[in-house]
Amino acid sequence: MKIKDASVFVTGGNRGLGKALVDEALARGAAKVYATARDPKTITTDPRVVPLHLELTDPASIEAAVAQAPDVNLLINNAGVTLAADLLDGDLAEVRREIEINFFGPLQVTRAFAPRLIANGGHLVNVQSTLAWFAMLGGYAASKAAGWSATNTLRQQLHPHGVGVTGVYAGWIDTDMAAERAAETDLKTPPADVARMTIDAVEAGQHEVLADDWTHLVKNALAADIPTLYPHLAATA
Ligand SMILES: NC(=O)c1ccc[n+]([C@@H]2O[C@H](COP(=O)([O-])OP(=O)(O)OC[C@H]3O[C@@H](n4cnc5c(N)ncnc54)[C@H](OP(=O)(O)O)[C@@H]3O)[C@@H](O)[C@H]2O)c1
Repeated sequence: MKIKDASVFVTGGNRGLGKALVDEALARGAAKVYATARDPKTITTDPRVVPLHLELTDPASIEAAVAQAPDVNLLINNAGVTLAADLLDGDLAEVRREIEINFFGPLQVTRAFAPRLIANGGHLVNVQSTLAWFAMLGGYAASKAAGWSATNTLRQQLHPHGVGVTGVYAGWIDTDMAAERAAETDLKTPPADVARMTIDAVEAGQHEVLADDWTHLVKNALAADIPTLYPHLAATA
């Protein structure tokens, strides 16, 4: 679909990749961008941007935000969190929270918007992560793997209705979320680059964005034996 004159809804549109997606959509001529945050005062004051409160763990908050955006034809599920809860002995409540924010919240947003996307000839973007395919950061990777699967299911379900679905997979993006990962600094992709690739993919009807070399490498290695991605698991016997 074309971004020019589109009505776009970006979760977590106040900072990081979400803010870059809002800027990119506006630069390409979107008529209106609904941008969400827990605190809408943190959202840009551009007159084409409609700031909305959204807390992904609160179904009522999701319903209220969706009700205020009746004309959306591009939904971008971007908001997410990294708690990196340890799966073996971390706080199970944190694992649940991570899956609530990264999986169930976006799924509820998608279900609420689906009839509008179908009626308006729209498109869905789900921002996932290369950690959907590479096990790291415990609960975060599990939540993104669930999101990857849901993205593939939703693509098949929405395709007959003319709604395209794009999954976005990136290794490290230079945002608050990756701020503590100093060791990966050279590998961090600027959020503006990921946003440009994402909007390009929407306009081209592309199923996936693989935002960096590491993401290509990981996806290609999924068909290989486990030690290809996890060399320390190579058999020693
Ligand atoms: N940074 C990376 O290295 C990286 C790599 C691959 C994929 N990603 C994915 O890219 C997406 C954007 O992440 P980012 O890097 O831009 O992270 P970020 O800078 O930490 O921003 C996270 C965004 O999610 C929102 N958010 C967090 N918890 C929320 C909740 N409970 N309810 C509603 N909104 C919530 C935040 O809103 P508030 O301002 O209200 O907190 C913020 O807008 C995420 O899905 C992330 O998993 C990131």
